[in-house]
Amino acid sequence: MSEPAIRLAGVGKRYPPREPGVAPLDLLIELDLTVARGEFLAIEGQSGSGKSTLLHLLGGLDRDFIGEVRVLGCDLSALSDQELAALRHAQIGFVFQSFNLLPGLSALENVLLPDFFGEGVPDAERRAREALARVGLADKGQSPPAALSGGERQRVAIARALLARPPLLLADEPTGNLDAQTGEGVISLFRELHQEGMTLLIVTHEARVSHAADRVMVLREGRLAAEPGSKHPLESE
Ligand SMILES: Nc1ncnc2c1ncn2[C@@H]1O[C@H](COP(=O)(O)OP(=O)(O)O)[C@@H](O)[C@H]1O
Ligand SMILES: [Mg+2]
Repeated sequence: MSEPAIRLAGVGKRYPPREPGVAPLDLLIELDLTVARGEFLAIEGQSGSGKSTLLHLLGGLDRDFIGEVRVLGCDLSALSDQELAALRHAQIGFVFQSFNLLPGLSALENVLLPDFFGEGVPDAERRAREALARVGLADKGQSPPAALSGGERQRVAIARALLARPPLLLADEPTGNLDAQTGEGVISLFRELHQEGMTLLIVTHEARVSHAADRVMVLREGRLAAEPGSKHPLESE
C-alpha cells in the first residue's frame, strides 16, 4: 500500500518573539496527524490557533519546524529546496487565506502563474481555461482581480491551485471572506474534487466547511512557551 497523503509526527514550530523581552511562541507541539489518500479532512481552530502555520508547514512554504512532516510519501525535511519546489509544483495545490492574486495580471494570467515557475505545466493555457470554467469563471479570464468580487477572486485562487492537477489540495480558510451563498458554491466545488479522488485538507473556523468533510479535527490554541523550570519540547539540549 502507498503511504498516507499526510503524516505528521511530533511537529512543532517556534516563532521568535515579536518584541525583545517577550517569550517566543511555540505552536503545535507534539502534533500527530495522518490523512489518508482521498480523504477530505477539515481542521477547525479559532483565530490564532495555528491553522495557517500548520498549512504552511504541510505545503512546504515554511521549513523551519521540528518533528517529521511527510507529504505524499516524502519527508519534507529530507528534500533539497529544489526537490521541495518540484513536489509543491506538481503535487500540492495551495489556496491562501488572502488569495494572493497579482493585481497587475488578469484572472487567466493568475491561474497560469504556476506555469511560469519551475518545470511549467503541460498544455498550460488550455488547462487554465478549463480550470476557470471549472470554478464557474469561463467568461472572466480577462478580468483583473480588482474587477472581481471576493467570491470570484477566491475561485480564481482555487483554479490556480488546480492548474497542475495536484493530488493534494490545502486550503486556508477558503470561505472566510465569502457570503453564505458564494461560500456554498466553493464548498460544493471541494466536494466534487473530493469525489474525483483528490485529498483535501481545509483549515477553517466555519462549521459549514466541516460539514462537507469526511472527518473534522480541532486545533487547540497554539501553546505558549514553557513555564519557567519545565523542559519544553522545543528546547534544544
Ligand atoms: N511570523 C510570525 N511571527 C511571530 N508570531 C507569529 C507569526 N505568524 C503567526 N504568529 C503567531 O502564531 C499564532 C498562530 O498564527 P496562525 O498560524 O496564523 O493562526 P491561525 O491561522 O489559526 O489564525 C498566532 O498567535 C500568531 O500571532
Ligand atoms: Mg490563518
